[in-house]
Amino acid sequence: MLHLSTIDLKRQKVNILFIPVCEDRSIHSDAVLAALVKRALALEEFKGKKDQEVILYQPPECAAARVVFKGVGKAETLNAETLRQMAGRSVKRAIQMGMTRLWLAAPDPAACGIEAAEGLKAMMEGSFLSNHLFDRYKERQEKKPLGRIDVLVPAKPAGHVRRLPAEVETVCGATVLAREWVNLPSNEKPPEALAQIIAVEARAHGLAVEVFAEKQLQQKKMGALLAVGAGSAHRPAMVVLRHTGGDRRPPVVLVGKGVTFDSGGINLKTGDSLPDMKGDMAGAAAVAAALIAAAGLKLKRRLIGVIPLVENMVSGSSTRPGDIVRTFSGKTVEIGNTDAEGRLILIDALAYAEWRFKPEVMVDMATLTGACVVALGERFAGVFAGDERLQSDLVASGRRTHERCWPLPLPEDYKELLKSSYADINNMPSSRYGGAISAALFLSEFVGKTRWAHIDIAGPAFHKKEDAYCGPGGTGFGVRLLLDWLMNLA
Ligand code: BES
Ligand code: ZN
Ligand code: ZN
Repeated sequence: MLHLSTIDLKRQKVNILFIPVCEDRSIHSDAVLAALVKRALALEEFKGKKDQEVILYQPPECAAARVVFKGVGKAETLNAETLRQMAGRSVKRAIQMGMTRLWLAAPDPAACGIEAAEGLKAMMEGSFLSNHLFDRYKERQEKKPLGRIDVLVPAKPAGHVRRLPAEVETVCGATVLAREWVNLPSNEKPPEALAQIIAVEARAHGLAVEVFAEKQLQQKKMGALLAVGAGSAHRPAMVVLRHTGGDRRPPVVLVGKGVTFDSGGINLKTGDSLPDMKGDMAGAAAVAAALIAAAGLKLKRRLIGVIPLVENMVSGSSTRPGDIVRTFSGKTVEIGNTDAEGRLILIDALAYAEWRFKPEVMVDMATLTGACVVALGERFAGVFAGDERLQSDLVASGRRTHERCWPLPLPEDYKELLKSSYADINNMPSSRYGGAISAALFLSEFVGKTRWAHIDIAGPAFHKKEDAYCGPGGTGFGVRLLLDWLMNLA
């Protein structure tokens, strides 16, 4: 699907060639590309400004049937993300034009100031991700994804760069898988069904899989998780995925919030926000997909994914505000608000994972709070960690992958907000301010001494509108982030 190719542009017939063009600097040293760019820039309508585009048919400099020039703006704004977006937009354009393949010219690393491997990786990511269309519920598939994408490089790549196409296919393939799961409507992914969907995919990629049904969750005394699932006609479940990398160190555990639909429960949500709540399992999807890719990449570390799955619904058997439940940890929780359900399923999963696997480090990912979206907007995740090194490593991975994370604090004194008159803790904070923080502090009360980070992805997990390399709906946010972090773990 993805290839790094070296071709003779003068002789080899290609159907459609895309060339990024900078507004104020030449970024192609190849003579044919430079001549083509010169011809394009001579046109009044094309100056290489960001998102400008012009098409030349059968230009004399090369054997391409058509060449699409993509403006990328000023040189100082060029970075891996602008290349990722340029590549994503190129693929969308080619699909729209009914093409089946695409050739994309890589800029010269020295001229554009982006390291070779980083730039090529970004272009392959953008084009691969953009080539995913979620159309399984349309009777007619109007657009067809491309069958092959060639990124053109001046010389045959060597070493690590040679392995990049396969690596990007694995990682971005997992991102696409997570998007597919998030986009599935809730009627097609009740907890036990989603558990099976994940289990089948995970087994096919060589992971060890356990699926716990409600009865086993009862035996394990996961009272918080069970309370969230109590109102639904569909039974909760929990999936445990294991990748054995070969080393003997304690494992890395990833935990993902899997609420297949969040109605809010008795604290019912209102109109507008409800349809998006099919995406309240985006953390679970990202964790499962990351483990699948980790197996594909044959990562050395032992990895475990713990994925609690429930549907938060309203019925005569729903948990009520004011109910008190005993959690896996033994601590009791007063359920002050049934819409703060994510933290309830996560505390049982986190406490169970820590007890059973004695991990070296745990990271949970969850569409946890609207407050995090208020704080950081829709394009940043909030990252919390007691350990500053862990927090900054995740922020660094976010910078590299453009799955951006911003550090938020875990102030000890805010724990005051979670006091309950009757139980050990309340799941509803007493103040409506700082909601992302109080949610993270709530989780922290159920993690022992293990190094742990929490990533709130309520903003970036799900977008109504499409963008440069993602369709509308699930974004698969977190998969590339987690894998970058895992690949760089000492
Ligand atoms: N699933 C929601 C959080 C959410 C909001 C995700 C917007 C994606 C977009 C979560 O379960 C929730 O409802 N949180 C409440 C917590 C409150 C009741 C303490 C919230 O954020 O309002
Ligand atoms: Zn909720
Ligand atoms: Zn939720």
